[in-house]
Amino acid sequence: MQEPVTAPTLDLIDNFPAFDKAGAHLKEIIIEHGYKMIADIGGGANPMLDDEFIANNNIHYSLIDISRSELLKANSLYNKIEADATSNNDTFHKQIAGMKFDLIFSHMFLEHINDPVQAHRNFYSALNPGGRCVHYYASPNNLPLTLNRLLPEKISACLVRIAQPARDLEGSRGKFKAVYKMCGAPNRALSAVFEEIGYTISQHTGYIGHTYYERFKPVAMLERRLRKIIHKLQLPLTSNCLLILEKRA
Ligand SMILES: C[S@@+](CC[C@H](N)C(=O)[O-])C[C@H]1O[C@@H](n2cnc3c(N)ncnc32)[C@H](O)[C@@H]1O
Repeated sequence: MQEPVTAPTLDLIDNFPAFDKAGAHLKEIIIEHGYKMIADIGGGANPMLDDEFIANNNIHYSLIDISRSELLKANSLYNKIEADATSNNDTFHKQIAGMKFDLIFSHMFLEHINDPVQAHRNFYSALNPGGRCVHYYASPNNLPLTLNRLLPEKISACLVRIAQPARDLEGSRGKFKAVYKMCGAPNRALSAVFEEIGYTISQHTGYIGHTYYERFKPVAMLERRLRKIIHKLQLPLTSNCLLILEKRA
C-alpha cells in the first residue's frame, strides 16, 4: 500500500536543502506558488534570500527576530521587526502590526525556542490561506548534539570552537543556546500537534548524518559509512529536519 504524502520520512543529510542550498529551495517554492509576502523568523543576521531576487520578484521580505542586535547586522533592504515568536498570539499579532504572509520560514531557529507550539500557532494565524511555513532546523539525535545539549553552555561553545574553528561566533554566525523542543525525528505524535493547530503537513523529513567530525578525518569517514547503514535500517537518528506546513486555502 502506498504511504500518504504526509508520512514522516528519513533521508540522508546530503539531501537536506538547507544552509547554502536554502536560498534555491525557498526560491523554488516562492516561484511555484507566486508568494510575495515573506517572513524570515529568527533571520536577524543571515537573511536567506538575496537582494536581487527580492527586487526582481517584487517581494516584501520581513525579518522577524527577538534580537535587535541581530537585526542590525542585516542590511536595510529588509522590513525589520523586533518580535518574540513565542509571545502569546495577541502580543505577536501586535508586534508584527497585524501583517499576513504567504510564506513564513525559519532557518536554524526552531531548536532555540522554549515554546514551539505557541510559535507554530502564531505562524498559523499570521499565514494567508494557501500559505506555507518552511522550517529548517537542527535535530539532536546524534552524539555531538547530544553532548551539546547535556554540557554546560561554556563547554559546548568551547567544543564548537575546536570542531569548527572558522565559525565567527561573535559575528553573523553567533552560537545561540539550543533546547531542541519538538526537534526530534519526525513522527506521528508531532504530526498530530501540527494538525491540531490546523496545518496540513506537506513534508516532514529527518536527515541522517552530520559534519561535526570534519576536522577528524578517520572519524568523519566512519560516520559517513555508518549513516548509510542507519538510513537503510530507517533508525530515527536525525541531525536536521525539514518541516513544510500548509494552511488550507
Ligand atoms: C541560530 S540563529 C539563526 C540565524 C539565521 N536564521 C541563520 O540560519 O543563520 C537563531 C536566531 O533566532 C533568533 N531567536 C531566538 N529566539 C527567538 C524568538 N523567540 N523569537 C524570534 N527570534 C528568536 C535569535 O535572535 C537568532 O537571530
